[in-house]
Amino acid sequence: MESSMKSLSSDFSYYLKTFNLFLDRSTEHMCMQKFIDEKLPDVVASIGKEGSSSLNVLGVGSGSGKIDFEILGKIKSKHPGLSIRNEVVEPNPEQLSTYKALVKEKSQGLNISFTWNHMSSEEYEKKAKESHEIKQFDFIHMIQMLYYVESVHDSIKYFHSLLETNGKLLIIIVSDDGGWHSLWETFRSCFPGSCLFLDVHKMLDDMRMKYKIYELSSDLDITECFIEGNENGELLLDFLTESLHFRKTAPTDLKAEVLQYLRQPQCSREENGKIIFNNNLQVIVVDY
Ligand SMILES: C[S@@+](CC[C@H](N)C(=O)[O-])C[C@H]1O[C@@H](n2cnc3c(N)ncnc32)[C@H](O)[C@@H]1O
Repeated sequence: MESSMKSLSSDFSYYLKTFNLFLDRSTEHMCMQKFIDEKLPDVVASIGKEGSSSLNVLGVGSGSGKIDFEILGKIKSKHPGLSIRNEVVEPNPEQLSTYKALVKEKSQGLNISFTWNHMSSEEYEKKAKESHEIKQFDFIHMIQMLYYVESVHDSIKYFHSLLETNGKLLIIIVSDDGGWHSLWETFRSCFPGSCLFLDVHKMLDDMRMKYKIYELSSDLDITECFIEGNENGELLLDFLTESLHFRKTAPTDLKAEVLQYLRQPQCSREENGKIIFNNNLQVIVVDY
């Protein structure tokens, strides 16, 4: 790896630019929305401690809050008589501001309170342990964020330990057989970031946790990556490789290899002249 390559996560604003374009070019949030509409109501039906008048929810790596808000809406409609206390853990200040603006716009009359933690999940854990405050949650979600934590195992273990009786931990990550795993298995050592694409099921099995998996089919149109000089293509390449300015900073051989690999069936298919990257996801619902 050349020393000039830098991890995308080192620049919050730039990361967000690439992530927003990724959302625009993919069906990521659309397939999550389908899951939320069709499956989540049953998942959250049984949460809540008997006799309690409120539910505690925790979002870890919430981003702009768009998906969190949909989740909160479904919890609310399944438990209309209960108030919701929602905590948010998000290290990116721009994302947190967007989430706060969304709450201001949409949360009136919903009986949901918000607590903001502008920090990473690791900092949240450290702070909670230092304060000796015992908080329990009826629903915790970690959506598309486990790649960025220091230890996936420790994060799952810690947040699972915060579940209240009947609580559920919802994790969304990319599927084992999708394009992301193939790309990162092949080029991990060449990319500057340390995105963790790990075998979460094995970890859950080792920790003897009970869970259910839902597969979500999702596409990402990466056609622009193959148009030399296309700005969107460059941003998408940065997001895929977790690199800041991949085209400008990666060695020539690596660029050629990555672009060629991205077209291979392990990653993508061609459809109507477009290159469609396999962005399939899985939702893992872990029981209390
Ligand atoms: C791919 S985005 C997903 C955002 C949102 N959950 C969604 O699905 O739209 C990943 C999010 O994780 C956050 N993140 C990165 N490292 C984190 C960490 N160590 N702890 C908590 N959140 C983190 C990022 O700031 C970003 O908002």
